[in-house]
Amino acid sequence: MIVKLLLDRKREGEELAPEEIRELVAAYTRGEVPDYQMAAFAMAVCCRGMTDAETLALTTAMRDSGDCLSWDDLPQPSADKHSTGGVGDKLSLVIQPLAAACGLAVPSLTGRGLGLTGGTADKMESIPGYVAGLSLADYRKVVASCGCSLTVQTGEIAPADKKLYALRDVTGTVPSIPLIVASILSKKLAEGAGTLVFDVKCGAGAFMKTRPEAAALAKALVAGARGAGRKSMAIVTAMDEPLGFTVGNALEVDESIDVLKGSGGRIPQDVVDLSVEFAARMVALAREMPMDEARTLCRERLTDGSAWTRFAEMVRLHGGDLKAFEGRRRVEGGDVLSAGGGFVASIDAQKVAQAAFELGAGRAQSTDSIDPEAGVRLLVTRGDRVSAGQPVAKLHAPMRPERLEVASRLVQDAVVVSADAPAPKALVLEVVE
Ligand code: URA
Repeated sequence: MIVKLLLDRKREGEELAPEEIRELVAAYTRGEVPDYQMAAFAMAVCCRGMTDAETLALTTAMRDSGDCLSWDDLPQPSADKHSTGGVGDKLSLVIQPLAAACGLAVPSLTGRGLGLTGGTADKMESIPGYVAGLSLADYRKVVASCGCSLTVQTGEIAPADKKLYALRDVTGTVPSIPLIVASILSKKLAEGAGTLVFDVKCGAGAFMKTRPEAAALAKALVAGARGAGRKSMAIVTAMDEPLGFTVGNALEVDESIDVLKGSGGRIPQDVVDLSVEFAARMVALAREMPMDEARTLCRERLTDGSAWTRFAEMVRLHGGDLKAFEGRRRVEGGDVLSAGGGFVASIDAQKVAQAAFELGAGRAQSTDSIDPEAGVRLLVTRGDRVSAGQPVAKLHAPMRPERLEVASRLVQDAVVVSADAPAPKALVLEVVE
């Protein structure tokens, strides 16, 4: 393979053969193709796009660059949900144990977050003792024992993606649907679940800002997953406002526990509804069950405490101490007061995320540490009536009290109050089946 000739052809818009793409990825993973040539390839893909066959070849080549797991030895069908990520997106903490309680194996390899707020692994690690970085052997044991595991992805899974994503990040080549699909899917396919359901977030607080972009990604993910032999569907969901009331690692675990137990703080209806919808989609596809039956089963398993039992068992098997977590008092740094009176018309997810970051909930670089206790707890949601001076949020910044003022201004700007009640807004924007 002469990489320069491949690059010439891709630059001119020619379709590459699957074997050529496989060879390129394999050579890049072995360190035989330099970063500058792979960056040129990524840029050519950004500008020229890829056919479905090329995208599938890139995806499977990246999948095969590392270990590929299989769950065929388990008695129950396997399924997972992937989210493109949003503000306050704690859905995995509810969906994974809920789907497990409905008879699925849910082997979720997840990430530590880069950006304004933490990833699922960061959230779980705010529970004292919880080890997200399990060996593959221990991860298998946890899934076999309680049906689900939220484990951080190891370097053995799709190493080509790890290398290529870091390169794309610094060469302006992240926003390309074929590259995003190959990146997301290579990891999810290697994880081995037989059913893959995608939550493609759309809006100000999401990676995909517009509806056409989000729908295109959703369709491409489903087509790719099916092309690789998995059952799949996607839902495009709204991400203009934060999900639930909390943004910040321990705060989001608190809220997820409330949802799983059905008691505690104010239960966020958006988190409940989306969790049931996604878990039901997984169950319906994996167990080949009608969707209305799957929804009923998921609602039952959420309200009868089965999902909570699975979550508690998963945490125990990961070494976490839920008693210590739940007994801990969250240090409050102060209230944010509403600037005016009326109805909450909107809550800007991006500004709330920025506030959480200021307080220490996120990391700008992978080597930064996060404060698990930092974040924002909203006290209101869209449509609530508020009066001027009423507290609309509580801030938590035990390690960065000096950032409280700037965060408070961000949250105050984020909560927009108007004289009229806002019209109801759909959470589910589009279903791709
Ligand atoms: N998330 C990923 O894992 N990869 C991308 O390319 C974009 C978002």
